Amino acid sequence: MIYWQWFNIHPQFTKNPVYIGGDSYAGIVVPIIAQEIANGIMMQHKPIINLEGYLLGNPVSDQKFDQNSKIPFSHRMALISDELYKLTKRTCKGDYVKVEPRNVKCLKNLQTVSECTKDLKVEHVLEPNCIFVLANKPNGIKGSGRSLEENIENFGSESQLPEFGCRNYNYLLSYYWANDDNVRSALHIKKGTTQTWIRCNNQGGLPYQKNVPSTLIYHQNLSKRGYRSLIYSGDHDLLIPYLGTEAWIKSLNYSINDDWRPWFVQQQVAG
Ligand SMILES: *[C@@H]1O[C@H](CO)[C@@H](O)[C@H](O)[C@H]1NC(C)=O
Ligand SMILES: *[C@@H]1O[C@H](CO)[C@@H](O)[C@H](O)[C@H]1NC(C)=O
Repeated sequence: MIYWQWFNIHPQFTKNPVYIGGDSYAGIVVPIIAQEIANGIMMQHKPIINLEGYLLGNPVSDQKFDQNSKIPFSHRMALISDELYKLTKRTCKGDYVKVEPRNVKCLKNLQTVSECTKDLKVEHVLEPNCIFVLANKPNGIKGSGRSLEENIENFGSESQLPEFGCRNYNYLLSYYWANDDNVRSALHIKKGTTQTWIRCNNQGGLPYQKNVPSTLIYHQNLSKRGYRSLIYSGDHDLLIPYLGTEAWIKSLNYSINDDWRPWFVQQQVAG
């Protein structure tokens, strides 16, 4: 029950309404943590945490919904042709995850689909698929990698810095930011207690098994208990397409209070 100890030494957080948030793979972690905390509140663990709800962006949620949405999403984004989409849908019978090995037509069409999309930046299909190889990191930081099934950045012997404007450029900046003395003092990190900060390492740094294929039951449980949730999606994400997120939310049969509508920020359509 590590998090109770954490809240005990950070009592300022228990005074505020608490929302837990995250994106991408946090779609698996956040609902589980929220339910743990909700259970603790029910059992009157001290300190009492004022949990209000949780937020998730393009969250990994359910293998079936998430994976199956990639083909229709690729079609909607005009990444594959009408013909290929119809053919794939028909031969795979709309299920692109559990494909029978004997269904060679489906497998062949899926192969053609992946040929069309394999060189794209899956997190945002309009962004350049930048490579980030960093040998001599700031302050001699050792290797790191991206989380999830994203392109692994190999920190080999040759430095290849991301270009400005590439999403990965921020990852480079994060090393400077998190290891800067002024930042560390602003975050109240006591000198000498934390060593060089590195980005989370997928290659052996976080050994864990993926044993939660779906978080839908957690969403149902938390909603039933009155916790609020905000689930939002960027609509150019091919890794966790909004279509899959929309589909699993619909499968929970909640009533709709407000219809689909455009919203704007300074006359620019934002969603
Ligand atoms: C959901 O809630 C029920 C009871 O309210 C509980 O039995 C079940 O274990 C919960 N599901 C998960 C995945 O924790
Ligand atoms: C939602 O409604 C459908 C159709 O009525 C039903 O089959 C399904 O079990 C419902 N799902 C939930 C989570 O209640």
